[in-house]
Amino acid sequence: MQMLHLPAAFLIMVVFSSQLTSLATVSVIYSREPLTKTEGLSLSLKCTVEFKTKDCDIEAKWWYTNSSKLFPLVDPNSYLITVNETERAEHRLRNIFLTISSLKLQDSGFYQCDATCLNSGTQAKGHFVHLNVTAEPNKGLKFSAWSGHLKTDATALALSAILLLLWCY
Ligand SMILES: *[C@@H]1O[C@H](CO)[C@@H](O)[C@H](O)[C@H]1NC(C)=O
Ligand SMILES: *[C@@H]1O[C@H](CO)[C@@H](O)[C@H](O)[C@H]1NC(C)=O
Ligand SMILES: *[C@@H]1O[C@H](CO)[C@@H](O)[C@H](O)[C@H]1NC(C)=O
Repeated sequence: MQMLHLPAAFLIMVVFSSQLTSLATVSVIYSREPLTKTEGLSLSLKCTVEFKTKDCDIEAKWWYTNSSKLFPLVDPNSYLITVNETERAEHRLRNIFLTISSLKLQDSGFYQCDATCLNSGTQAKGHFVHLNVTAEPNKGLKFSAWSGHLKTDATALALSAILLLLWCY
């Protein structure tokens, strides 16, 4: 009943702020933490897009840069993209997971997630997450273990050659 006595100024404010919220129909949320990972490990980055179900059809992507150019990460041979969604009141939360199964040194750089509400064209862009892929410290060890194995094989081969010679005579 109090509604009937609301001053005009308050009503205008309500209308104005609801316009503001409908402008911001999409937002992206994800960790800001820089990452340091060893090459060969897997990495999964999660981006959560929040939007109003009734206002938006969403297109969301992860991007990569190490220069002034941004590359969309859409190549299914290099990146696994998985998506799932939950609903919360009038909002929907869509998670976009970017998974790299085996990190390479060249994956170092900056990753960004963005989302566009296709109906209104409103876009939400996140910050850049820094990824530092470091060299695998045991790489050299693995290599020498492998050449050690080769050496034993060569010894075995030489031995059987000698045995063959002995047998012949
Ligand atoms: C979405 O997928 C991730 C990774 O597979 C999982 O951890 C999470 O529980 C899922 N969330 C929902 C709401 O299904
Ligand atoms: C920078 O990114 C491009 C495109 O993904 C890649 O080909 C190149 O190897 C990267 N450079 C470095 C130094 O990581
Ligand atoms: C990446 O991490 C290594 C090891 O922590 C560090 O020495 C190096 O300076 C880092 N590189 C960048 C570009 O942050």
